[in-house]
Amino acid sequence: MTRARVASGLVLFAYALFHFLNLGLGLFSPALMDAFQDGRQVVTRSLPGEILLYGALLTHAGLALYKLAQRRTWRMPVWEAVQTTLGLFIPLALIDHIVFTRFAHELHDVTDRYGYLIALIWGSPDAVGQSVLLLVVWIHGCIGLHFWLAGQRWWRDGLPYLSGVAALVPAFALAGFLTEGRRIEALTSDREMRGAYRASYNWPDRDAFANLLNVAAWIWWIVVACFALVVVIYLGRKFLIRRKSVRITYVDGPEVVSSKGLTLLEMSRTNGVPHTSLCGGRGRCTTCRVIVEVGAELLHPPSPEEARSLKAVNAPPNARLACQIRPTDPATVFRVFQPDGRRGRAHASQGQERRLAVLFLDMRGFTARTTGQLPYDVVFLLNRFFDAIVPAITGAGGTVDKYLGDGLLAVFETADERSSALAGLQAASGIRAALRAFNDGMAKEGAPPVAIGIGLHLGDVVLGEIGAAGNAPRTLIGDTVNTASRLEGKTKELGVQLLISEATLSGAGYDSAAFDLVTLELRGVSEPLAALAIDAGADLDKMLDVAALTPENA
Ligand code: FES
Repeated sequence: MTRARVASGLVLFAYALFHFLNLGLGLFSPALMDAFQDGRQVVTRSLPGEILLYGALLTHAGLALYKLAQRRTWRMPVWEAVQTTLGLFIPLALIDHIVFTRFAHELHDVTDRYGYLIALIWGSPDAVGQSVLLLVVWIHGCIGLHFWLAGQRWWRDGLPYLSGVAALVPAFALAGFLTEGRRIEALTSDREMRGAYRASYNWPDRDAFANLLNVAAWIWWIVVACFALVVVIYLGRKFLIRRKSVRITYVDGPEVVSSKGLTLLEMSRTNGVPHTSLCGGRGRCTTCRVIVEVGAELLHPPSPEEARSLKAVNAPPNARLACQIRPTDPATVFRVFQPDGRRGRAHASQGQERRLAVLFLDMRGFTARTTGQLPYDVVFLLNRFFDAIVPAITGAGGTVDKYLGDGLLAVFETADERSSALAGLQAASGIRAALRAFNDGMAKEGAPPVAIGIGLHLGDVVLGEIGAAGNAPRTLIGDTVNTASRLEGKTKELGVQLLISEATLSGAGYDSAAFDLVTLELRGVSEPLAALAIDAGADLDKMLDVAALTPENA
């Protein structure tokens, strides 16, 4: 439907552009204006041209009215309201124009050239009305074109120049209209000359005028009836929808009761709650996104498109696009972006506290191994190493929060504490297997094996965007991160490959008493920490398999 609206709009825009340029030629000479009109009409008055033009007119207007009737609310951004109002004005103002040109030509054989129409309206209020119509059509077309192409870089770059051209077109057309009008006025000041001038266009007589006025009135009523139908459908749908409502609480106010069935963005608009929505609610940006603090689990799951958009901005699990969700149960939401388009400074940016597993990994002996090597060779080695082991992290549901030279910090941001701990354990096991395969490859190349140390811990972290507004990558901080880092450092001291904190094991559902834990004093960590030490040759999977799960998790 959108494509049909855009395609029909483009046809009409092209028609209007040439129509206005044609009118502007009145600035130079009527002969030039007529010649250009003849050329245009070869296209617009051919059968395919007429089908295309009038088909586009009916399609564009019909789809616009259909969309208006289907809307849940008529509250909309200013630009959209302007666009819609102008669009509704056009058919009403266009009726006389079409009836006294095209219909007059078909029904009464009037020669509907510019000279005829200008003489017909010159000096009457219609001259002002048609000038306003010209401006309205042009502005409506330009707004439509702009919002169709606003996502294109070349359009945004060229906007200052295109705006200048856009302003010149109606100015040129109106200049042509004024010049030609004054010329015709001078030419027809004499009664006899006026008669001859009108006769040259087969001017409609009194009966023909009455007939054309009648036709215009009929079309006017048809258009008004279409508008009325749209209003009736809109109000009828609204009435049916309003029979059921839902309460939405915005974290920074207000609280509203809105109709079920609306998207959250429509609820905001209906209730006058400012809500950023740069793409107008078409699901083509993420600026309407909200953090659903209460009631997230009661919402329908995101569509693949919504999930993809949220993933692209690394949004937390309870983030949703307001234009894509239709709450049916009470919810508390936080608008991530302020209505002025700036980033809100709460939750998503200030942070969100979660209990998650965190994994710290470091390559052993990296400095000694790479001393004297060319920088490109070092980069090559690191990338091969990370290529080998990172899939074990992402495959387990984790993400690499950051790379730290020859090491990394990974987090397992899953639905709950237990699944996060299990994902961390799965990743640790996967990394060890991946490292063995990687080292087999190194051995074939005659290179020494790579050794690593891993610290895995479960605890509270704050996930947030840390940095200057607009340039703040999402990261995690908290004692848990420091503890995981200290555990990783301790592996070197203990001569083991992996240290798993007791908190991780019990968080995953294991009875930690089933393991032979070591108690560690970690620098910067106030309490001694119990952890399971695993050396490179140990079979972690087997150890976890035989360990007892706590009864509630078994
Ligand atoms: S307003 Fe752009 S995706 Fe919702």
